[in-house]
Amino acid sequence: MSISDNIRQRMIQGSWIRRMFEEGNMLKQKLGADKVFDLSIGNPVVEPPRELHQELQRLAKNPLPGMHRYMENAGYADTRSAVAEQLSQEMGVKFSHQNVVMTCGAAGALNVVLKSLLNPGEEVIVFAPYFLEYGNYIDNHNGITRVVPTDETFIPRLDALESTITARTKAVIMNSPNNPTGVVYNQDLIDKLGRVLGAKEKQLGTHIYLISDEAYRKLIYDGIKYPPVFQCHHQSIVASSHSKDLALPGERIGYIAVNPDCFEHDDLMEAIIFCNRILGFVNAPALMQHLVRKLQDVTVSLADYQKKRDFLYGNLVKMGYSLVKPQGAFYMFPSRPPRTRSSL
Ligand SMILES: Cc1ncc(COP(=O)(O)O)c(C=O)c1O
Repeated sequence: MSISDNIRQRMIQGSWIRRMFEEGNMLKQKLGADKVFDLSIGNPVVEPPRELHQELQRLAKNPLPGMHRYMENAGYADTRSAVAEQLSQEMGVKFSHQNVVMTCGAAGALNVVLKSLLNPGEEVIVFAPYFLEYGNYIDNHNGITRVVPTDETFIPRLDALESTITARTKAVIMNSPNNPTGVVYNQDLIDKLGRVLGAKEKQLGTHIYLISDEAYRKLIYDGIKYPPVFQCHHQSIVASSHSKDLALPGERIGYIAVNPDCFEHDDLMEAIIFCNRILGFVNAPALMQHLVRKLQDVTVSLADYQKKRDFLYGNLVKMGYSLVKPQGAFYMFPSRPPRTRSSL
């Protein structure tokens, strides 16, 4: 057999969401796109904002010399500076381009970070339910996934986190706003999480990285503000992208931001830039880097998503489903409704 046993096994176990997406595409061809509501993968239903098309036209009309060539593996310094500027405003920590690497989406960012950090057999903690690709990404870099439960409102159980951390724990991945629950962690939880990690580092004499997957950071409803993670833990890294906030998942543009106060910051940045190269990404797509440079403070219409959230949530509750009202992202995680007499 040519294909590795591990990959064959992972393909069997982990491809059902993709299979649903492909089935949806087949049904659309058969029945018409307006007859099929595809809720399988996290594809934005909205189009990118007008500003993105304007910027694309401007670039096409005024091409910059060498704009499609190789560049530094970290990405263009001026794009990284624009991301750093936006992060400084949102996070209350001063970033420069030296803390930022442009990547092929948040998926590329997570793989680069894990490749940079993990020795074989080291453990990465995730909170259930989680974005299922985390298991594959951790395995890509010979790590072991450890799953910590959340409570009935999908908030991580910090007592369980504490007892799962060992000397082999290299990182914890958190994801807020969360796929698949839509839950947004509040400042109090993030502070407590930071305190647990800090205490465990002291007790074990290790460094435990908090990897914050912020693919949905700008998709938050009801006026809730996103609590930044960088103040809660020095060893913190954000992996994010414009797949959802600019509705660009097919274009593969994202970034990594490392806490400027991180221990061995410069070594870690060098490793991250090196891994971006050797994983074969080489650099994030050049055209997209030119494009998003000026769009750091632009986001798709939140009102559209919030309207859909309200419609779906309200109707699912009326139908008898119980679910936590999502505060961000575009997912819902309902439990099965109670059986009624007529459904028995
Ligand atoms: C939680 C989460 N992280 C990462 C990703 C990957 O995002 P990207 O398309 O930017 O690689 C997704 C995509 O749906 C996601 O839901």
